[in-house]
Amino acid sequence: MSETTLVLIKPGAVDRGLIGEVVRRIEARGLRLAGLKLIQPERATVEEHYAEHKGKPFYDGICTSLSTAPIVAMAVKGENAVLAIRTMMGATKPVEAAPGTVRGDLGLTIEDNVCHSAATSDDAQRELGIWFPEGLL
Ligand code: CMP
Repeated sequence: MSETTLVLIKPGAVDRGLIGEVVRRIEARGLRLAGLKLIQPERATVEEHYAEHKGKPFYDGICTSLSTAPIVAMAVKGENAVLAIRTMMGATKPVEAAPGTVRGDLGLTIEDNVCHSAATSDDAQRELGIWFPEGLL
């Protein structure tokens, strides 16, 4: 089943020059880009994106982090793209992520865990609407 999912490359990874490495891995897997932009989003956009985490100890920090430096938003499409991308990214805590995954190879701390990716197809639809209201190619 072909589907489209949302990936954010977080500020730390952008600052470390890892945009190309993350995109390379996604394209090498056989997935394709349907949207790609380098942006510094409004805080309100990030708060909407992370609404399910509102009230958690890390909510303010992650919202500040993603709205005060450039990030990359990507729409990624292909067979089972949601699960394929989640598996490629690895565990949320990079220290627990398997080698070979993006976080397992490129991340170390949860505050700088390289990427966000949508957890489910429903989340992907909601998140794509937030980051790509203009639509996809
Ligand atoms: P992400 O997949 O984008 O979803 C929520 C983000 O909050 C997570 O990755 C981390 O970057 C960040 N975060 C910071 N601390 C925690 C924590 N203790 N548990 C989960 N996520 C955290």
